[in-house]
Amino acid sequence: MTTNMLKSIPLLAAAVLVALTSCAKNNNNRTKEMNQNNTNAIVCYFSATGTTEKAARRIAAAAGADIHEIVPEKKYTSADLNWRDSSSRSYVEMHNRSFRPALADSATDLSGYSVIFIGYPNWWNSAPTIINTFIEHNDLSGKTIMPFMTSGGSNITNSENELHEAYPNLIWSKGILINNASDAEISAWIDKSLK
Ligand SMILES: Cc1cc2nc3c(=O)[nH]c(=O)nc-3n(C[C@H](O)[C@H](O)[C@H](O)COP(=O)(O)O)c2cc1C
Repeated sequence: MTTNMLKSIPLLAAAVLVALTSCAKNNNNRTKEMNQNNTNAIVCYFSATGTTEKAARRIAAAAGADIHEIVPEKKYTSADLNWRDSSSRSYVEMHNRSFRPALADSATDLSGYSVIFIGYPNWWNSAPTIINTFIEHNDLSGKTIMPFMTSGGSNITNSENELHEAYPNLIWSKGILINNASDAEISAWIDKSLK
């Protein structure tokens, strides 16, 4: 190694240090921005086969929100989900609308959130009753609730109306069907609802 090369090593090290520090600063700023925007929002979702989970992740990313899965104490098997079988678990549960499937964790700490997204699949044109269990196990009063749904084609309207009727004292914002929604549509829905 020449003397000139040796002399340039400290300079090179300083340059690398400056670059790394500025990179770390940028990351910190970005995290701070997200937290400032949305530490008050959380996406809570139930998903039996993964479709609503994907939608939930898109919404959480768009809103910079936290995410929480609503997990049944006893997970639904594919036999449980057979809507053509009138003795399947989902069929039996959903045809007794006062039935409340148990949650794996009974209460979620939602105290720090003022906006709660609630996501679910369409089951017989309704929200699965585990959504009722979730709502009834948590104090959602005074919070803005933003429903979203995935489905095989049905729209969200009936499930929204049923939830409004069951919990008229909660603050319901207009919900969205996520099936074919683009990122731009999701962002527009979030912006409009939270104005
Ligand atoms: C028990 C059951 C009932 C369903 N009922 C309907 C329905 O009435 N209308 C509809 O469009 N889709 C219906 N579907 C389809 C689901 O809503 C759709 O596949 C959803 O995206 C699944 O979400 P997940 O993967 O998050 O569970 C039903 C599915 C199941 C398992």
